[in-house]
Amino acid sequence: MPDGAPGASPATSAGAAEVEAAVHFVLDGAPATARPGELLISAAERVGTFIPRFCYHPRMKPVGMCRMCLVEVSGPRGATLQPACYVPVAEGMEVVTDSAKVKKAQDGVLEFLLVNHPLDCPVCDKGGECPLQDQTLAYGPGESRFVEEKRHFAKPIPISELVLLDRERCIQCARCTRFAEEVAGEAQIDFAGRGDQVEVAVFPSQPFSSYFSGNTVQICPVGALTATPYRFAARPWDLDQVESTCTTCSVGCRVAVQSSANRLTRILGIDSDPVNHGWLCDKGRFVFESVNGTEGAEPGDPGGQGRLLEPMVRRDGVLQPVSWAEALAAAAAGIGAARDAGGPEAVGVLGGARSTNEGAYAWARVAKGVIGTDSVDAQLGDGLPADLVLSLPRATIDDACAADVVVVLAGDLREELPVLYLRLREAVREGGVQLVELAPRATPLTPDATVSIPVRPGEAPVVVRALAGEPGAVGELALHPEGLTASEERLAAARDLLGAGGARVVVVVGRPSLAEHPGIPAEAARLLAERWPEARFLPALRRGNVMGALDMGLAPGLLPGRVTSSAGADWFAERWGSVPAAPGLDATGILASLAGEGEAAHQVKALVLLGSDPLVDFPDRQLAERAFGVADFVVAVAGHLTESVRRADVVLPAAVAHERPGTTTNIEGRVTRLGQKLVAPGHAWPDWTIAVELAAALGVDLGLTSLAQVRSEIARWAPAYRAITQDLVESTHFGEGRVVPLSDTGGSVARVRPTDPIANPGVQSAEQQGAPPRVGLADMAFGVPEHSGDAGGSGAPGDAAAPLPLGGRPVAVAEVHVVPPNSYSLRLASTRRLYDSGSAVASSPSLAPLVGGVVAAANPYDLDRLGVRTGDPVRIRATRATIIVTAKADAGVPRGVVVVEFNLPDGPDGPGGPNVAATLIDAGASVTDVRLESV
Ligand code: SF4
Ligand code: SF4
Ligand code: FES
Repeated sequence: MPDGAPGASPATSAGAAEVEAAVHFVLDGAPATARPGELLISAAERVGTFIPRFCYHPRMKPVGMCRMCLVEVSGPRGATLQPACYVPVAEGMEVVTDSAKVKKAQDGVLEFLLVNHPLDCPVCDKGGECPLQDQTLAYGPGESRFVEEKRHFAKPIPISELVLLDRERCIQCARCTRFAEEVAGEAQIDFAGRGDQVEVAVFPSQPFSSYFSGNTVQICPVGALTATPYRFAARPWDLDQVESTCTTCSVGCRVAVQSSANRLTRILGIDSDPVNHGWLCDKGRFVFESVNGTEGAEPGDPGGQGRLLEPMVRRDGVLQPVSWAEALAAAAAGIGAARDAGGPEAVGVLGGARSTNEGAYAWARVAKGVIGTDSVDAQLGDGLPADLVLSLPRATIDDACAADVVVVLAGDLREELPVLYLRLREAVREGGVQLVELAPRATPLTPDATVSIPVRPGEAPVVVRALAGEPGAVGELALHPEGLTASEERLAAARDLLGAGGARVVVVVGRPSLAEHPGIPAEAARLLAERWPEARFLPALRRGNVMGALDMGLAPGLLPGRVTSSAGADWFAERWGSVPAAPGLDATGILASLAGEGEAAHQVKALVLLGSDPLVDFPDRQLAERAFGVADFVVAVAGHLTESVRRADVVLPAAVAHERPGTTTNIEGRVTRLGQKLVAPGHAWPDWTIAVELAAALGVDLGLTSLAQVRSEIARWAPAYRAITQDLVESTHFGEGRVVPLSDTGGSVARVRPTDPIANPGVQSAEQQGAPPRVGLADMAFGVPEHSGDAGGSGAPGDAAAPLPLGGRPVAVAEVHVVPPNSYSLRLASTRRLYDSGSAVASSPSLAPLVGGVVAAANPYDLDRLGVRTGDPVRIRATRATIIVTAKADAGVPRGVVVVEFNLPDGPDGPGGPNVAATLIDAGASVTDVRLESV
């Protein structure tokens, strides 16, 4: 992205905002103000004077390497040339940016930079958006005195699977090398050579294998670094662009989405101050290729992961293209038949975390208001109980980065929520945040953690109790045959950091391992919230819009707007016609019921899949197989042909990311706008449209004919979203979104406590009844109209400006009883990798080759006992299955644990298929213990 592109500089985004505690200086003869410590280049830009630059980047430390930013600064010895990117503004400083002396310096710098620059602009990807081109024209000498032959290098050289290097174009600004070292913490590229032979290079023994490599391409001010998916794909002037939000994971990085001829060509990071600081991970940056893919869309095409273009209905055992009317009629008939046979709860709905908020709301209304089932789950058994997630007091990413202590009780954040990892890493290294890590294996954050406590699957609640100083808890940990993982000293150190009430503590809570029951980390989180009531929580659930889907009610026991079914039943029944009478099943319960297992055996007979692929993505492959094997009817709403879609009876093609407008909600509860860049291929529809049409086929007119109407309905009826109106979303002030719920003043409600009263749509509290009507929404700076419509005076769902917690009860976690394994068995942990066998990566040609094969990672002590070394085949015996994979000794894995990463293939002919870990995991068990044997 050129430096002038949207959001390239946080300094510019601040505009001419008022400067507190200002430093006064004179800029080109005019008085100006700067923030204390602010660099001259940034202060000048904020007041409208652009100083040319190459090496300066507002999100990295200055190095003063290129000298393009030289300006005249008056001092005791008169005016001298100084680099504006390296000099903080001082009181009374006099600065001149446009004198003849400055111009001469700029001429000289550019003339030198161009001595060896190849000037192959016509074939350079950067041509047309190149700061070197632009600044040469604007500030350069016009002609060069150097006529000698330029340097020539073989070009381009691939420095990774995704990045190409044209060395002769490099101007040695060190932006890429600084990013790799400073921001990503992966110093895999650096300068090599001396004098005029200096070049950027990778280390011979260490490939440039960063998850963040695309950022170096974006910030390179010339065409020295280019991305393989974009090389020669388009010229800047051919591109059309919208601003949007990445929904590949739930961090919600702001992006510019670019296309040419209705095909996505490039995704660039936008500097959102509260979220991504301009950075993206490579998955978020390059996974757009899966949107373009159309190959392999035919049913039955082996290995095809292409886009679904037409509705399909299974006839004579084969999926055949049909019209939308036929497909919707078939879907309605299948759902109706299941409902007739077993009541509304005979239909289970899985997925929705890839939807927009509007799509999720429409589907929640169809599932709960039209079909009448509460067995709906946007999480696929890989998350946390929804009512816990929504009732924990929420933190923002900025809260975490400004906290005194961050506790991470989650998987590897670099693999699951990569840009959150970058933000936390910076906060720990530069901001003085103390990190307490509770994880089943060492992660890239471990070296920076103040206290790192390895937590074996099943042990998290006990570790938290030990952390809280509960007598006897440490003794329970010691029962494990491999002894304590959490030493008394580490526990005491962490206890000291957390303090008495947990004020200024943020807990990042997710699923450390998919091979343990979600009730285990949930119980640990609940204990943390109880013991440290001032602590706030940032949920580390990774699916793109999982938080929006939960907020819209795509979970058992919930209704839109962070309202429990019991509290919101009357309110929503009045508006939707009806809502389910009893709480339904979660994803594991739905699949178990289908498979004829558990208390609700055979209750569920039909499945609706909302962009989900349980056969590959559910932690327990065998349960998913059993469920699909007996399901009476499966309807799949999907953008890609996945394994689960192949087994469906009706397929409804859906628009995917960048093909539909709407909003999304990230882990903070931040609602941001999604831009539509493409027209969906074939006959694919947006998810909310499919929901509305299916409702019509089921005989119910939802009265929703436009996206604006859906959004308006959410704003009127879903309590936590009441201030997120159409006007606000469309306003220019909405760029970085808003964290819901909003306060009177348009800011986010600072804090919701688990002990606050539940938002009750039907019955106002005595306080609310006596309160005067709220004003304030109309007064918001962005002009949100006063809330109106049917919220009227009759039992409005709480107040949009008031805290709207789910309730005081954190969560009812099933009693978790974990038996320590004996000395012959190891406890299975299954963690996530960024590049896995999911359909998005598999259908992105640039990313698909980066998916690694599965290994069994165990502590060297445990492998030594078996006489197994790294690279040897090892047999893993679980109750469910026996597999043979490659062993890997990893000292970061605690003794007594073996890690088999989730959703990775075990090779083309392996028995486990695309997700070998899922063949071992029993979703009904607290933990999975396995035996390791040499082969
Ligand atoms: Fe700067 Fe690009 Fe060279 Fe890296 S490759 S030093 S970013 S010009
Ligand atoms: Fe997208 Fe998540 Fe990566 Fe950000 S961290 S670019 S939201 S995948
Ligand atoms: Fe200041 Fe490079 S931008 S020295």
